[in-house]
Amino acid sequence: MKTKTEFICNQCGNVSTKWLGRCPDCGAWNSYTEEVVTTKKQSGIALSQSKQPIPITAVEIIGHERRTTGISELDNVLGGGIVEGSLILVGGDPGIGKSTLLLQVAANLARQSLKVLYVSGEESTNQIRLRADRLNITTEHLFLLSETVFEQIHHTVVAESPDILIVDSIQTMSQAELSSAPGSVSQVREVTSGLMRLAKSRSMATFIVGHVTKTGNIAGPKVLEHIVDTVLYFEGDGSTLHRIVRSVKNRFGSTNEIALFSMTSMGLKEITNPSELFVSHIERSEPGTAIFASIEGTRPLLVELQSLVSRTNFGNPRRMSLGVDYNKLVMSIAILEKKRGLELFDQDVYVNAVGGIQLTEPALTLPMMMSIVSSFLNKPIAPGTVIIGEVGLLGEIRPVPQLEKRLQEAVKLGYKRAIIPKQADTKMKGLEIQPVENLEQAIEITFG
Ligand code: TYD
Ligand code: MG
Repeated sequence: MKTKTEFICNQCGNVSTKWLGRCPDCGAWNSYTEEVVTTKKQSGIALSQSKQPIPITAVEIIGHERRTTGISELDNVLGGGIVEGSLILVGGDPGIGKSTLLLQVAANLARQSLKVLYVSGEESTNQIRLRADRLNITTEHLFLLSETVFEQIHHTVVAESPDILIVDSIQTMSQAELSSAPGSVSQVREVTSGLMRLAKSRSMATFIVGHVTKTGNIAGPKVLEHIVDTVLYFEGDGSTLHRIVRSVKNRFGSTNEIALFSMTSMGLKEITNPSELFVSHIERSEPGTAIFASIEGTRPLLVELQSLVSRTNFGNPRRMSLGVDYNKLVMSIAILEKKRGLELFDQDVYVNAVGGIQLTEPALTLPMMMSIVSSFLNKPIAPGTVIIGEVGLLGEIRPVPQLEKRLQEAVKLGYKRAIIPKQADTKMKGLEIQPVENLEQAIEITFG
């Protein structure tokens, strides 16, 4: 029998009959993998005459019941707890703490007398038991299964009817009827849809662990993100002990909420006053650092931005960003050159957000520019200063959302001065407020 193969982009799921170096759909390079096509027999769908659309007002309102994970930080990113029957994807680098977090969640749920089934395709039940012992987990309602075949998991779920299912990880699971390898786009997609049907039909909340590829995407990412209700993502460099969990998509809550944890010998512990993590010290200030009062979701967070501007020795100047959007960096440099005549064309510029957090807010452009200028001039910004503002292409400083919340956080942590966009006269007790309208003014005020 001749087998047919096709090529699937593992970034967006685009299908091609031949290999392509670059996906025409999502633009990813070298993302096509060959997979064997299996045509599923169409079981002649019976079209029902009675399937009538109903007026929206006639739809019954069913309140989503939420269950607490026992970890308030996590409940918060989920939008107030786990919604019944929801499918939650937890993504992140290997070794960042996904299994640890989910085992802790599983134990907390089991303590509420919910039946939890933890299916692992990566570890034996023995290994999980050892980990559980280290985490001090002793509860009878937590059931373990070491399995990688989806049909078997389906069978077990039907037989045992757990309240909560955890699948660790999606890349190890496969459907026996598909011939492609575990972790391939078609397997990931099919198993996830299978889990989706299972979760919805049984009102069983399901967590899926997803590993991340080198490029920072969950393998088969887009196909997966479309199917699930919620995507949580572990951020942070593995080198520090703190971990950030961010909601990237949430059908039952707001996105971009973050939860902060630190990895201890007893598993992940929540951190309730996180700003101190991302700032090294507030009494001193070195050239090249600026403190940004950011908002992540609904939470204010002070983050230290560091820049290093140094002469290019050879060839084109380098621009590198860690934790801040690269395009914003390049644009900021262009604005500084054009509007302030800052000669950065023969300078390498490196920018880093301390602590491994990923910042995307437009309001970070002013503090980032000030840190670049500070390094360029080799002049520190006065300690105790926070900076907030979005810089437009014309050098104008635009207003930012939730200014008051940011300033409150700054006061709370002992900051004395805030350089902010000029917007509806802002006052804050204990803080010297310095509104600025354009880049020129901002540099003037920041560096005196
Ligand atoms: P793990 O949850 O296995 O990562 P993932 O499932 O995302 O691949 O995390 C493993 C790391 O966490 C490992 O390096 C050991 C560390 N760890 C602790 O520091 N303390 C603990 O209590 C546990 C269980 C793990
Ligand atoms: Mg794991």
